[in-house]
This record gives sequence, C-alpha cells and structure tokens, in this order.
Amino acid sequence: METKTFNRREFLATTGLATGAMMAAPAYSMRGAAGGKRRVALVGTGIRGITFWGRRLADQFGDILEFVGLCDINPGRLEYGKNYIGVSCPTFTRFEEMMTTTRPDLLNVTTVDSTHHEFIVKGLNMGADVLTEKPMTTDEVKCRQILEAERKTGRKLIVGFNYRWAPHFTKLKELLTTERVGRLTSVDFHWYLNTYHGASYFRRWHGLRDRGGTLLVHKATHHFDLLNWWIDSDPVEVYAYGKLEHYGSNNAFRGGKCRGCPHKNKCEFFWDITQNKTYMDLYVANEEYDGYIRDNCLWRKEVDIYDKMAVQIRYANDVQVSYSLTTYSPYEGWRIGFNGFDGRIDSWEGIPWRKDERINQAELHAQEMSQNEQEEASDYNEVMVMDNFGDYELIKIPMKGGGHGGGDRRLQDKLFRNPDAPDPYRHSAGSRDGAMSILIGIAARKSIEEKRPVKIAELTDLEPRVKRI
Ligand SMILES: NC(=O)c1ccc[n+]([C@@H]2O[C@H](COP(=O)([O-])OP(=O)(O)OC[C@H]3O[C@@H](n4cnc5c(N)ncnc54)[C@H](O)[C@@H]3O)[C@@H](O)[C@H]2O)c1
Repeated sequence: METKTFNRREFLATTGLATGAMMAAPAYSMRGAAGGKRRVALVGTGIRGITFWGRRLADQFGDILEFVGLCDINPGRLEYGKNYIGVSCPTFTRFEEMMTTTRPDLLNVTTVDSTHHEFIVKGLNMGADVLTEKPMTTDEVKCRQILEAERKTGRKLIVGFNYRWAPHFTKLKELLTTERVGRLTSVDFHWYLNTYHGASYFRRWHGLRDRGGTLLVHKATHHFDLLNWWIDSDPVEVYAYGKLEHYGSNNAFRGGKCRGCPHKNKCEFFWDITQNKTYMDLYVANEEYDGYIRDNCLWRKEVDIYDKMAVQIRYANDVQVSYSLTTYSPYEGWRIGFNGFDGRIDSWEGIPWRKDERINQAELHAQEMSQNEQEEASDYNEVMVMDNFGDYELIKIPMKGGGHGGGDRRLQDKLFRNPDAPDPYRHSAGSRDGAMSILIGIAARKSIEEKRPVKIAELTDLEPRVKRI
C-alpha cells in the first residue's frame, strides 16, 4: 500500500503521492491434503459463486487448487455456472451426494444467506474445512449450531470478509493500532447506499427477512466486522431503530417484475435486466426451475426488511459507536469519525463534496457489479487526522479497483497463495469474527422489535472480551 501524509502547508503545496509500506497475515489458513492441489467444492452457483469464488479462483489459482464439484438447487444455473467458471468437474443438485462423491478439502459456501449454516455445519461434519461468504448466518440459533460444529469437528471455518483487506481500511487500522489520536473513545460511522445499489437489495431475496436477515445482517455485517476489527474489542450491548418507509408496500403502484411492467415509464427504479447478458443467462434463462425473479418489483408487498437503520453499540473497552445505514441516497459512500483523547481521525469515500468527484451513480453501480478484475490506481482516498489544539495531517491512499478497493484480491491471495505470510493487523477472519459481526445485526433487529437494549451475551455462549482474540 502506498500512502503519503501531509501537514496543512505541505498539502497546499503539493499534489503528488509517495510510498509507505505494510501488510501481510495468518491465524486461519488452509492447506490441501498431502501437499497436493486443494480439492475445492462450491455450493451456490449464483453471481458471487461463479465469478469471485469460481472463475477467478480457477483462473488465478489453478496451479494450487482444483474444483472437484459444484452444487446448486437450480440445475440450469448450475450448468451455466460450470461453463462460466470453465471447469469440467461433476455437478450436483444434492449437496450430500457432492460431498460424499468428491470428498473436498475445502467447501465454499455462496448460497442465499439463510442457508449458509446448513452447508457449513454439514461440510464441517463431513470432514472439510469451510470458507463461507458473509454473513456467516442470519440468526443466533443457526450461529450457535455453526460454533458448535466447528468446536466438535476441529475443522476450520473462514469467513470471507473482503472489506478488511482494502488499503484504505487497513490504513485506518494501522492508525488505530498505533493510537495515533490517543485512546479511542467513540466512533461515528454512516453508510449510504445509492438508489441503484440500495434498490437492488429490494428486488430479490435480500428484501425478505427470512432469507437475508435484513440489511442489518446481510449488508451491515461488513461494517460491523470493520468496527470490531478497528476497535479491537467485542460488542457488549446494542440499541437500534429501523423502519421500512420507502420501498416495498410504500409506493402507490407496483408490477410483477420490471420486464414488461406497465408502470415502467413512470417508475424511476425501472431496471432493464435484458441489457445484461450474464444476468439473462444466469437468472432469466433459469426462472423455470425455481421461479427466482432477478428483476422483481421492489414495491412488492412481501418486502419486510428495514430501509433505514440507526444502531448504537457499546463495546467491552467502553468505546461507543453511532452507526446508520441508508438505502436510497443520491450517492454511494460512507463517512467515519474516530474520536480519541488526543484528536480525531476522519475518513470518507464517495462523498461528492469536491467537484472532480462528482461521478455518475449509474456507472459507478455498473462498475461495482461487474466484479471487474482490473486494479489500477486512478484516484486516492483520504484520511484526515487532527490533533487536539493542533494541526491536521492529510493521508492519501491510492484508490484501487478490482472489487472492494482491492480487498477481494488480497483476501484470496492470503487464503490460497500465501497462507503463512505474517498478519500484523490480523486481517484473517474466523468463526468468532463472523459471529461477532452478525450478532450486532441480530441484536439490533431484536432491539427494534422488542424496543430495548440487547446484550450480545444473550444470544450465544460467546463472552464479549475487552480485547479481541
Ligand atoms: N463479500 C461480498 O462482497 C459479497 C458480494 C456479493 C454476494 N455476497 C454473498 O454471496 C452469497 C451469494 O450471493 P449472490 O449475489 O451470488 O446470490 P445469487 O442469488 O446470485 O446466488 C445464490 C445461489 O444460491 C443458490 N441456492 C439457494 N439456496 C440453495 C440451497 N438450499 N442449496 C443450493 N443452492 C442454493 C441459488 O439457486 C443461487 O444460484 C450471499 O451470501 C451474499 O451475501 C458477498
């Protein structure tokens, strides 16, 4: 990672970038049996499975791993996925059959969130290590089943928290680890999903609480994991508010799906899936098998998740957090402020406060969704550190593409290419990290429903610790 820091005078006088250093990691790593190629099976051949954990792994890591089986309940998507990934392994619509036939070293779980636990638990019990997409699961009962299975089997569970690996987030971790602004006392963290990205969650299974656990779990698991990692302590208590007042039944009209919708000319959220060949081949062509409609109406009445959320979190080390998630913002971005005894660290991304940062939100969303592999520094992210009674320092971190600020690539390299590389900032995430992040969202959900503060220790047998392990 390259960074340069500036004080006020230097910043005004220069626009260049220079180098710094850092990074590396383990704690949780996986190896193939007897030094051979790792035998990988994947369940869930949707977009994330076939791209990031499919074709990308096959292309970039084919020398050290091989796909031995693919599974999905939708046979059409399974066949498309196999061709898309470019492998010749057998395919299965029955998970147990895949596991007993192929005996993988590693099972990759990329199904709908509410089903993760089933495959994680079975995979561990059937002798594989498991790598699951976030969120680890969607409720505390399933979470307990997962923790129990890992303890019982002694196998490893890794949660694919890619955000941690982004250079921008790593820089914040570095500043907090070195107590750059003294003892951390509170954090303000606000995440804005724009009307393209935010709306996309209400079109499909994410809009149903029993499939994605609400965005407090599905989406905010990323943000809560970052907070836990940055603050380096466990959450103790959560109080939250949330409401659905924009999407779902809140609109005056609704259709069946965007394709052929009679309201398309007046609906600002009309989305033409026919323009995306991959989505047409992966989803539309296979609707006949399971009725999964990718361009569903986001005004449909069964949507039952919140579209605005505000969460207060108290940590075991007494740090307090104010977090919010918005799903219909005109721009996509976030802001964070870390308050310490000696100063404050501010950072942000995507906030169009500078003229040259005004970007087309539709294009931005298309870029995000393309899971583009290119990683070129085109701009930079900023971190501003201000000392109490003092000056400020502006740190510039070159902005990388390639998925989640370059975090996606770094995560995979660490998992497969360099599992034993040092991990000074403890980027690698296991089941405890996976649990602690979803437990904040689960506690927030409970808090909204029961109108009371919810203790993390109520939910599982994990005891919050002042310093994370
Ligand atoms: N880390 C990230 O940045 C990131 C990005 C996108 C998605 N994800 C995660 O990846 C996972 C998949 O998301 P997606 O966007 O690919 O969704 P998707 O809807 O495109 O794919 C999900 C697939 O799971 C299959 N499936 C559902 N239930 C199943 C079952 N019981 N058995 C076998 N297959 C089943 C579906 O048929 C579908 O093919 C989700 O958990 C999501 O949270 C993570």
